[in-house]
Amino acid sequence: MASAAIRADLLSDTVTRPGVAMREAMATAVVGDDVFGEDPTVRELEERVAGLLGHEAGLFTPTGSMANQLGVRLHVKPGEELVGDSLAHVLRAELGAAAILSGISSRTWVSQRGRFRAADAAELMITGVGPYQVCTALVIVENTHNFGGGTIQSLDEIQRARELTRERGVAMHLDGARLWNAHVATGVPLDAYGREFDTVSVCLSKGLGAPVGSVLVGSSDAMAEARVWRKRFGGGMRQVGILAAAGLWALDHHVDRLALDHARARRAAEAMGAAAPGAVDLSTVETNIVIVDVAAAGWPAPDFVAAALARGVRTYAVGPGAVRLVWHLEVDDAATDHAIDVLTALLSERRSDSDPA
Ligand SMILES: Cc1ncc(COP(=O)(O)O)c(C=O)c1O
Repeated sequence: MASAAIRADLLSDTVTRPGVAMREAMATAVVGDDVFGEDPTVRELEERVAGLLGHEAGLFTPTGSMANQLGVRLHVKPGEELVGDSLAHVLRAELGAAAILSGISSRTWVSQRGRFRAADAAELMITGVGPYQVCTALVIVENTHNFGGGTIQSLDEIQRARELTRERGVAMHLDGARLWNAHVATGVPLDAYGREFDTVSVCLSKGLGAPVGSVLVGSSDAMAEARVWRKRFGGGMRQVGILAAAGLWALDHHVDRLALDHARARRAAEAMGAAAPGAVDLSTVETNIVIVDVAAAGWPAPDFVAAALARGVRTYAVGPGAVRLVWHLEVDDAATDHAIDVLTALLSERRSDSDPA
C-alpha cells in the first residue's frame, strides 16, 4: 500500500509520526537505567501522569496493552474473573492476554456502543461464593470507548459503579487509552475520572502523538508490585527516557489540540450524514471517532474501504457494514476536506444506484 498516495489517513490515531520538535525533545532527554529506577525523564513522566490522574504513583510501559494487563494482574488472582463490556479492548483486542498471563476468566455484558452502565456490571458480578463459583475481582471500564466509536463514559455511572464495587470488594480498572479525549470533550478534570479507579492506564501513542508508551497509575504499593510484574512480562526497559521525553512533550503540546480532532470529526460526520441520511448517527459522534454505517448506503464495508483507499482516504472496517474513521494530528483541515469529498461521493454513489427509479 503506497502511503504517498494517502491524503487523509483515518485508519487510527496510532499512525501519527513524531514531528521535529518532539524528536528534539527525545534526542536531548537526560536518561539512565530505568530497571534500576535511574532514568530521571521516566520518573518525571510517571510522577506527572500520576498527579494528573489523582494517584500516588505511575509506571511507564511500552504499550497500552501491557499497562492494562498489569492492571488485571494486580487485581485478579488466578482462577478469579474480570467483567467488562463485550467490545472492550482488554477483552476483544489483547488476544486473550488476561487468560494467558494472569490465568483468569472473563465475562461480558452487551452494551450500546460501549456505553458503561453501573447496573450492567452489578448484574454480572458474583462475589462471596466461596469454592462454588468463580468470584468477580475486577470491573473494566474503557473511556473513551474505541470500538464503541469514541464514546464518552458518564462520570455518574462510574461513581455509581464505584459505590457498588466498594461494597462488594471488587476493584475497578480504567482503560483510559483515550481518556485525554474524554477530558477535552467534557471539561471533566482527569483526576475526577482517575480517582474513581484503583488503577488507570493512559496511552501517549494515540491522540497525543508519541511514537510509543503508556502509563499505569495507582497506589505506591500497587505500582511497586506492577514494576515486578512488568519485568516478568518482559517490559523492563533501560535508557527509555528518550521515549518518556516524547510523552512529556506530548502532554505539553498535544492535549488541548484534541478539540480540533473532535471538531473535524464532527464536520465530516455532518457532511456524510447529509450526503447519505442514515449512514451516520450524529448523536454518537462525541470525540475523534466516527462510525459510518456504509451498509445503509448500499456498501459492504471491505468494498467501501478499498474504494476510499483508491482515492487517497484510508479507513478501517469494524464490521461487515460499518467503517471507522479516526481523526488525529496528521489530519488537518485540508485532509478533512479531501476525506469529506471522497467519502460523501462514495456514499451518494451506491445510494443513487440502489434508489428505486
Ligand atoms: C481502548 C484501547 N485500549 C488499549 C489499547 C492498546 O494500546 P497498545 O496498542 O499500545 O497496546 C488500544 C489500542 O488501540 C485501545 O484502543
